[in-house]
Amino acid sequence: MQNYEEDFPLLNKLHYLDNAATSLKPVQVVSAMDDYYLNYAANIHRGVYRISEQATDRYERVREKVAEMFCGNPNGVIFTNNTTESINQLALALSRTVLKKGDTILLTEMEHHSNIVPWLMLKQWNGIRVEYVKLNGKGLDYDDFRDKVANVKPKVVSFVHASNVLGTINNAGEIVKMCKDEGITTLMDCAQSAPHERVDMGRLGVDYIAFSSHKMLGPTGVGVLMGNEENIKALPPFFGGGSMIKRVEKQSFEPAEIPQRFEAGTPNIGGVIGFGAALNYLEAVGFERIMKVERELLEYALSCAQDRDYITVYSNKNVKDAVGIFAFNIKGAHPHDVSAILDENNVCIRAGHHCAQPLHESLGVPFTARASFYFYNTKEDVDALFNGLDRVNEVFSG
Ligand SMILES: Cc1ncc(COP(=O)(O)O)c(C=O)c1O
Repeated sequence: MQNYEEDFPLLNKLHYLDNAATSLKPVQVVSAMDDYYLNYAANIHRGVYRISEQATDRYERVREKVAEMFCGNPNGVIFTNNTTESINQLALALSRTVLKKGDTILLTEMEHHSNIVPWLMLKQWNGIRVEYVKLNGKGLDYDDFRDKVANVKPKVVSFVHASNVLGTINNAGEIVKMCKDEGITTLMDCAQSAPHERVDMGRLGVDYIAFSSHKMLGPTGVGVLMGNEENIKALPPFFGGGSMIKRVEKQSFEPAEIPQRFEAGTPNIGGVIGFGAALNYLEAVGFERIMKVERELLEYALSCAQDRDYITVYSNKNVKDAVGIFAFNIKGAHPHDVSAILDENNVCIRAGHHCAQPLHESLGVPFTARASFYFYNTKEDVDALFNGLDRVNEVFSG
């Protein structure tokens, strides 16, 4: 197995198992950002001098890279701050175009709050209705999905591609197909899938996707909202100001062409350039390898859990349908205590509701502990996790 410690110095100090919250960043990403800030830190799209042209070129090349990796068109790639902002902006844009009072948005009970609250805001402000597809013991209830698509007649279906608690990868092809047949707009939250697999927007035919750089080796403060050119063209600008206009008069303005019309003000130039380096790194590792390693670790974690009756597992046990997420509880211990004790052994996990309270309601527990794996993790990390959990059990079973 390749040794990643040189590229990710934190791996020398920690068993980092909170990758679903944010991934570690390799030195290549930090160096690309250093290079921008130290050697060509000019603003983009404006300067008629070499370092500004260099910065513009590097920034736009990342847009092209994103388009290539997600099988879309660069004109359909909008840089935002994160997945949350991407979803909020799309929700607001749709509320000013296709959505009217009384229209329904269909979500699923598996969503992260980022794909719930923006729509609940439209419910408060615009009288939009919000409905949810149920879960069954295995994941999404596809019969309920079909039934709601046919009978609730939603205008928009917004669904998570991979769950940040269960790890389950939803059947995006089937969902998009059933929505397309009814002319429903689709948004797929790829925050937890884009770091692990190649999401082919073109093949799926989904209208919009959203994801964050920081969960896929890139810096914080960079996200993407992406759609095909036609869908992106149909959206009104999100914010007004510099960079997003063709012409401004005292009483009117003409917006720039896409995608510039959606990127008002100076963007996170260094961050986008760092994100480009992250995408290059991911491609060099290869998505097949990424998925293989994390599924092996998940399988190993599940087998370790089987030998311990004090652990209840909530995440997907069918590793073929999941990303590397292991959500669990320890008998008698609050997940915050579990996490604090693991931290003493340099094991980092997440504890709480993971911004998915409706999902936890469906699971029948208010919170869980969550270990999430990425390609640079090893069996030793999983062993450290379970050694720590044995210690937690000793403390709380006494
Ligand atoms: C499924 C899912 N959607 C959306 C988000 C929000 O991502 P961000 O905080 O980068 O906006 C997360 C973050 O954990 C997530 O797991």
